[in-house]
Amino acid sequence: MTAATLIEALTAHHTATLAVAEAFPDEELRAQHHPLLSPLGWHVGHCSFIETLWVQGELLGRSSEVDRWKALYQPDMAYKPGRGLRLPERGTLAAWCVERHEENLGVLADPPARLRAHPLLHDDYLPRFLLQHYAQHLETMDYVRAQRDPGDRPVPSPANEPGWIVLPPGRYGIGATGPDAYDNEQEMHCVRLAGARLGRRPVTNDEFAEFMADGGYERPELWDDAGWQWRARHGVDRPGYWARHRDQGPPRGDSAVQGLSHFEATAYARWAGARLPHEYEWEAAHRHGLLAGVGSTWEWCANPFHPYPGFLPFPYEGYSNPWFDGRHYVLRGASASTRPAVRRPSFRNFYTREVRHVFSGLRLALDL
Ligand code: AVJ
Ligand code: FE
Repeated sequence: MTAATLIEALTAHHTATLAVAEAFPDEELRAQHHPLLSPLGWHVGHCSFIETLWVQGELLGRSSEVDRWKALYQPDMAYKPGRGLRLPERGTLAAWCVERHEENLGVLADPPARLRAHPLLHDDYLPRFLLQHYAQHLETMDYVRAQRDPGDRPVPSPANEPGWIVLPPGRYGIGATGPDAYDNEQEMHCVRLAGARLGRRPVTNDEFAEFMADGGYERPELWDDAGWQWRARHGVDRPGYWARHRDQGPPRGDSAVQGLSHFEATAYARWAGARLPHEYEWEAAHRHGLLAGVGSTWEWCANPFHPYPGFLPFPYEGYSNPWFDGRHYVLRGASASTRPAVRRPSFRNFYTREVRHVFSGLRLALDL
């Protein structure tokens, strides 16, 4: 993307966040629909705040708006259950976002001469980063909307072509180098893989229903200890989006199952006599055009989120580094809500194992 196209895309994403603020009344923008999800209105303010933090704060060294709003919009400073109450009224919120965005865009579109060599502007890194940040929060806003109204969710298109593909043993390129890749995708490097069979497409609702009918949620031997405890503590007996469709029955059978935690994905794979793919197997198979249904659902992988060789945090320590904690697991692919700015073979999503509100499903894998 050229600089001008990037700026246009940034504004389109900004406008999409404001459209959410316009679509809901004030009390809905403040409501917290899930303990792990901030209110819709908070996401709107947070996106403009992060843009302001980088453009005004980091580039220009102007800290007044950042200092004024960080106690609300900076995630590590703002207690999540208090975010809704502290949000400005929606007209004020939208006006603040529009003002900040106009200032920020002016700087990005025509940076002062003294900043042209700034590392954050090299290869238009900052607009690329901010675009992806908007894109990810727009998807998270779709998670909030799905919690609020289960009908307000893009159901994945039907999957066909069941069966297995073969990833031959060999050396494969993993990761990406360049200004569009996040720090956790860098650098592109080679790995040796023993080879595997992978499901041609993600597991469907009909297939997951067979696991349930076979007592999948009641058989401890299918679960690991942490998963079995989680299942019991929360009384889980069906995927997230099924519970909410109780009156209508499960969602369409031939589309990818969603609303799964890593625990459920692992148990299903064990029941099927298979396992989850390692993220490298997934990426190698996808890069070779072997996978169908990529983009219909996020797919849980077998491995925890970890740094690639030579990992360097950029543009800030907290983007990826804190989550290399062994508790976050990788998801690959994308959902119907994933914006193009973050759709690529090297993209790594990551959440803790119990998370199931993120349009998450799975694909099976087998050793060769
Ligand atoms: C990579 C999707 C887990 O939403 O917490 C957004 C992305 N980082 N703002 C998240 C992110 C900072 C992140 N995930
Ligand atoms: Fe964010």
